[in-house]
Amino acid sequence: MPTVLFAAPLLSENASRMVTAIASLPGVRLGVVSTDPQERAPEAVRRAIAAHWRVDDVLDPGQLAWAVESLADRLGRPDRLFGAYEQLQVPLAEVRERLGIAGLPSEAARNFRDKARMKDVLRAAGVPVARHRLAETVADADAFVREVGFPVVVKPPAGAGSVATFRADDASSLAHALEAAPPSGGNPVLVEEFVTGDEHSLETISIDGRQVWHSLTHYYPTPLEVVRNPWIQWCVVLPREVDEPRYDDAKAVGDRALQALGMTTGLTHMEWFRRRDGSVAVSEIAARPPGAQITTLVSRATDTDFVRSWAEVMVFGTFAPPARKYAAGIAFLRAQGPQGGRIRAVHGLERVRHDVKELVVDAQLPTLGAEARPTYEGDGWILVRHPETQVVVEALRDVVSNVRVELA
Ligand SMILES: Nc1ncnc2c1ncn2[C@@H]1O[C@H](COP(=O)(O)OP(=O)(O)O)[C@@H](O)[C@H]1O
Ligand SMILES: [Mg+2]
Repeated sequence: MPTVLFAAPLLSENASRMVTAIASLPGVRLGVVSTDPQERAPEAVRRAIAAHWRVDDVLDPGQLAWAVESLADRLGRPDRLFGAYEQLQVPLAEVRERLGIAGLPSEAARNFRDKARMKDVLRAAGVPVARHRLAETVADADAFVREVGFPVVVKPPAGAGSVATFRADDASSLAHALEAAPPSGGNPVLVEEFVTGDEHSLETISIDGRQVWHSLTHYYPTPLEVVRNPWIQWCVVLPREVDEPRYDDAKAVGDRALQALGMTTGLTHMEWFRRRDGSVAVSEIAARPPGAQITTLVSRATDTDFVRSWAEVMVFGTFAPPARKYAAGIAFLRAQGPQGGRIRAVHGLERVRHDVKELVVDAQLPTLGAEARPTYEGDGWILVRHPETQVVVEALRDVVSNVRVELA
């Protein structure tokens, strides 16, 4: 009977889904560590948990280790300890090592977390990546830009969610970006050559360092465009043809990248570009489930519960690749109107209902009266699926061009 510990800052809807999926695996006893108190979780989640430990800051390795040891006292020695939150990956690996719990080594976790280190490891392994410089001074950054030319991307070395990632097209926008996040020895910024092309993801399941399954998506447009333009209603498409030869190069690059970074067992989410010349460049890889509802897209495309599949991989190291029945896609709705306004109306839903109703399998519609959310997941979303990828693409186009979330 495996004892499993799961850690998360918040007991959000996503985390709750993971908790119930893990707890429902045969014979599993689940302990949960979170910053959120247990009462924050829905009743069903609380009932699924064998024990809970609250800490003030789950990202603090000391507090995390203390919580894990306390839960071990109650539940017995943990067989697994993991989480899905990006910033938790290194602290979790460190605690696993300290307590002798199996899982991704901290050395590998650091390769995935530190973007500059990741790019060094990938480039050394012959994986195509954007040129970069970890700049400790403004002069460093300027020297790098003289080498590669504008535009460049400026970002924190361990960011997530496209927060604090900027594109600089000229000297003044670079100066502006560096003023917002002044580089220093202890706090360098990552400057990268700007890669032009289409952006994709590649999800992979590995077991003992071997790729056993993959999936991929197209982002329309790129996450950086989405964050720069808060009104853009954007889409993620999971094509049905993920096994076709046109993606073989990306798959091979992904495989090489995971080998180089030291992936063992789990789900990874790689972001990559198809450059204008057709070549592949890796943007970054995370050793955790993807965001932007991509796990839901996989669930709908395969008619399975992919969160549960992920839990099985993490706990038992087993995975049975599901058949692909559909292409799936999601459109993120984003409010437009005066800054600081609240959502007054959602227009165009009738039209969408008329055009694509049979294709819609999930939706989270914007809440009237709510403030606009600044994140890339937007104020709501509509998820569609169909056996043909092109039908999904057209349905999403219909949604983003007809639905308008009005702020007033
Ligand atoms: N070198 C680059 N060239 C072009 N676009 C980039 C580059 N680096 C990042 N971006 C854009 O910025 C987004 C966020 O950057 P990323 O490194 O993925 O950070 P995060 O960890 O916050 O997701 C990417 O999805 C991509 O759209
Ligand atoms: Mg990213």
